[in-house]
Amino acid sequence: MVSLTRLIVFVSIFTSITLKSNSQYFLPITKHEPTKQFYTTLTIGTLDSSPLNLLLDLGTTLTLLDCDKVLLYQLVPCHSSTCMSLPSYCDFEGIILCLYRHSKQTAIVVQDKVFISTTDDDRNFLSQVSFDNFTFSCANDKTIQDFPPPLSGILSLSPLSSSFTKQVTSAFSVPPIFSLCLPSSGSFGSFHIGSVNTSRPISMTSTPMTFTDSGDYLILVQSIYVEGTPLPLDSRFVLGGAKLSTVVPYTELHTDIYDAFAQSFTLQAMAMGISMVPSVAPFKHCFDARTVNNMTEPNVPMIEIGLPNVNATSEVKWAFYDANTLVKVNETVKCLAFIDGGNKPKDLMVIGTHQLQDYMIEFDFNTTALSFSESLLLYDSSCSTWPSQK
Ligand SMILES: *[C@@H]1O[C@H](CO)[C@@H](O)[C@H](O)[C@H]1NC(C)=O
Ligand SMILES: *[C@@H]1O[C@H](CO)[C@@H](O)[C@H](O)[C@H]1NC(C)=O
Ligand SMILES: *[C@@H]1O[C@H](CO)[C@@H](O)[C@H](O)[C@H]1NC(C)=O
Ligand SMILES: *[C@@H]1O[C@H](CO)[C@@H](O)[C@H](O)[C@H]1NC(C)=O
Ligand SMILES: *[C@@H]1O[C@H](CO)[C@@H](O)[C@H](O)[C@H]1NC(C)=O
Ligand SMILES: *[C@@H]1O[C@H](CO)[C@@H](O)[C@H](O)[C@H]1NC(C)=O
Repeated sequence: MVSLTRLIVFVSIFTSITLKSNSQYFLPITKHEPTKQFYTTLTIGTLDSSPLNLLLDLGTTLTLLDCDKVLLYQLVPCHSSTCMSLPSYCDFEGIILCLYRHSKQTAIVVQDKVFISTTDDDRNFLSQVSFDNFTFSCANDKTIQDFPPPLSGILSLSPLSSSFTKQVTSAFSVPPIFSLCLPSSGSFGSFHIGSVNTSRPISMTSTPMTFTDSGDYLILVQSIYVEGTPLPLDSRFVLGGAKLSTVVPYTELHTDIYDAFAQSFTLQAMAMGISMVPSVAPFKHCFDARTVNNMTEPNVPMIEIGLPNVNATSEVKWAFYDANTLVKVNETVKCLAFIDGGNKPKDLMVIGTHQLQDYMIEFDFNTTALSFSESLLLYDSSCSTWPSQK
């Protein structure tokens, strides 16, 4: 439970300080409500091209576009250093092409100019910058329906050097850092690339991030707490890394972790006066929305995940409150916004976007640390308003 006193202290600290973030390269983030997907909008080719809406994906290695939407692009020659630096291969399709095999399709590797905005600390537009040799891949006609409107492709945010983010930081010689602030609704989320001003007032907590060979981001979840009480988890479940995802809408947990978690959560919730109601798929535990927030403060159990600090000398906690733990189904029903991922999931835990939204999350490759803010909602702010308040 978030105590009101704590909220008031945060809000007063927050409003007394001018907000600065001072990141240089900025892209907007929009939440597409029907599909719960997050995309950014940018221009590739020439400034005459229409801007493209591209799904943000931490797990995609090379950006994949519907290239009918790009006016001009150059094929990457097969034996060039660019083609050889990718896990790509050459094949003959009328001419010899540099090809890249995505999980579901093969795409042609190409390059073109990409345009990005620079902004000042308050997100005021400063200038449009570009670099010429942005490397990406083109889906063939048959697979274009894989991008439901309004999407025209997938932007790679992976830790590998072929990602969009790594290409931007290398093209502009800025520190290999990017941050995401996923909005819970609307189109004013922010995606910053490059330097981050560490003197900004919002405190960030850091934990080591690691990568899998296939380019997934992992953090080491050591424990899960519900209202301060650790779940009695079997040790085999707390050794694996938790994957971060910008495409999975709700955090997915191995069945055994989900069961322990949901049991603890529902017991605490009932003790706080929340009534359970029949479940609504895909969720397994749902509550009478009228019994949530019945009091002046949210009566929803707080969830925390325990992570090592950057030196692995002690534990830091990432806390989630009502807006990130429950999801509204309709006026009378709210459900625990976590999914039972089954007995044999690929990952024991995949942290999804309903939990990540309205937190500032920073990926720093120089220190290989993932940093997260407290919920911006505690500051009476959100990813849609940050950092526009003064
Ligand atoms: C892109 O072009 C610049 C200058 O034209 C060059 O220095 C850089 O190595 C190129 N990058 C890639 C990934 O080809
Ligand atoms: C970071 O922000 C502070 C406060 O706005 C400013 O004084 C400082 O110059 C900024 N630092 C950098 C490196 O831009
Ligand atoms: C709120 O809680 C009080 C006491 O627990 C109860 O009498 C009242 O019916 C509840 N209100 C709603 C809207 O559930
Ligand atoms: C981690 O270690 C470094 C160097 O030993 C130290 O300066 C820093 O304060 C430590 N950080 C934490 C969070 O313990
Ligand atoms: C909310 O959803 C539940 C479960 O699907 C349903 O039983 C209930 O009638 C719905 N309530 C409203 C107000 O739509
Ligand atoms: C990289 O990290 C080191 C500490 O690990 C720090 O001293 C250095 O300033 C960082 N460089 C950049 C460009 O952020």
